[in-house]
Amino acid sequence: MSRLIVVSNRVATPRHARSGSQGGLAVAVQAALEERGGLWFGWSGEVDEQPARKPDEFTSGAVSYVTSDLSPRDYEEYYNGFANRTLWPLMHYRLDLTEFSRRNYSGYERVNALFADRLLPYLQDDDVVWVHDYHLIPMADQLRHAGCSQRMGFFLHIPWPALEVFLALPNHRDIVKQMCAYDLLGFQTERDLANFQHYIRVEAGGRVDPDGTIMAFGRRLVAGAYPISTDTARVVEFAQEAADARQTQRLRESLRGRDLLIGVDRLDYSKGLLQRFRAFGTLLENYPANRGRVVMMQIAPPSRQDVPEYLQLRQHLESEAGHVNGAYAEFDWNPIRYLNKGFSRRILAGFLRQARVGVVTPLRDGMNLVAKEYVAAQNAEDPGVLMLSRFAGAALELDGALLVNPYDAEGMAEAMQTALAMPLEERRERWQTMFRRLETHDVDAWCKQVVGQLDRIGQG
Ligand code: G6P
Repeated sequence: MSRLIVVSNRVATPRHARSGSQGGLAVAVQAALEERGGLWFGWSGEVDEQPARKPDEFTSGAVSYVTSDLSPRDYEEYYNGFANRTLWPLMHYRLDLTEFSRRNYSGYERVNALFADRLLPYLQDDDVVWVHDYHLIPMADQLRHAGCSQRMGFFLHIPWPALEVFLALPNHRDIVKQMCAYDLLGFQTERDLANFQHYIRVEAGGRVDPDGTIMAFGRRLVAGAYPISTDTARVVEFAQEAADARQTQRLRESLRGRDLLIGVDRLDYSKGLLQRFRAFGTLLENYPANRGRVVMMQIAPPSRQDVPEYLQLRQHLESEAGHVNGAYAEFDWNPIRYLNKGFSRRILAGFLRQARVGVVTPLRDGMNLVAKEYVAAQNAEDPGVLMLSRFAGAALELDGALLVNPYDAEGMAEAMQTALAMPLEERRERWQTMFRRLETHDVDAWCKQVVGQLDRIGQG
């Protein structure tokens, strides 16, 4: 079996594994790497005035971890700049926040060229290369220019937007051309895939066959939808264990029988947190019986703090949470608990299980794994209700959720009320259909599906 080479901006090294802080994706990718042998390459997460020319290398069993530091300029132009101030907002339909500069774009290209150059000496002829996410779209093109003919796949973890939105990117054609240097393109949903195919047909003058084959920019490749998932069995185990953990008990005691609505998101404008706080305020306004009886806990660890839009969002959220609490709090009850910190996956699983409603209401999201983790963490006898934005990729799969429009505060308040009042039987029915899907469609199955597809390429 050929070796697997994984390339992603963030690399989960065994150090993370020992601390138990790894997400489901990292665990699945690591398992695939261990099975076939191979290498995981990417940014070290470090910024250094004078980054070493030679990457850092660490080998554990059949797997090597190879990481490179970035210079402050590279970090600014590649990561904060083109990746997080251009592609991220654009792909999440936030043209109002999309900044484009040629300088950042050339930084993005430069870092991709640098990474390709550093990876090159490690590659063997029959390796299979799997690149992840929007930071590294040009990788295959860069490697091909250096003469690599290995099979290469790309998975986009975030949405691919509608044509009219994508066209706002001045260099949209270059990006799509670089996408076409891969042999396999994976998207989260059929919706993202259709948007990409639309571009190929209309803008690139390419062809899309019914079997997913694309002919464009002189290349032939396959594009498909492969919805990512969570490590269901592990989340179930975490949640069962955490049910009696000290933190979960403390949370339960602090609630004093009140119903908990929970949100867990990186502090990001795509997550719809402001709209969520407002909707919760509307719930308390329109359904006053909930006052003193429900608590909304929003866990929102800060993210990408060097990007100005994230700092602004943080201020707006503080003000909105303060506003709702100021308007409705009582001397013995605070409606919103807003926490700017993260928790281990174990503790989170316990918190998710404790919550009567899982509030997952992004304005736009590639998939959203919290939605799947909330379902996996529930107690089968007495499961909570998932309230899910129709604009999350997960909404196309989790049909037992209460689907909501995050722009409609009154509609969301109504859905919160419905969720809080939902009878046990309906909660069980809804939960079971979702859980059954996640039992088979877990992150391991996803990983095998994508890598299997990559393996088949070139075998006729
Ligand atoms: C999203 C992206 C990932 C990214 C993560 C955290 O899920 O799809 O590629 O790693 O956010 O963001 P960060 O900028 O901290 O890596």
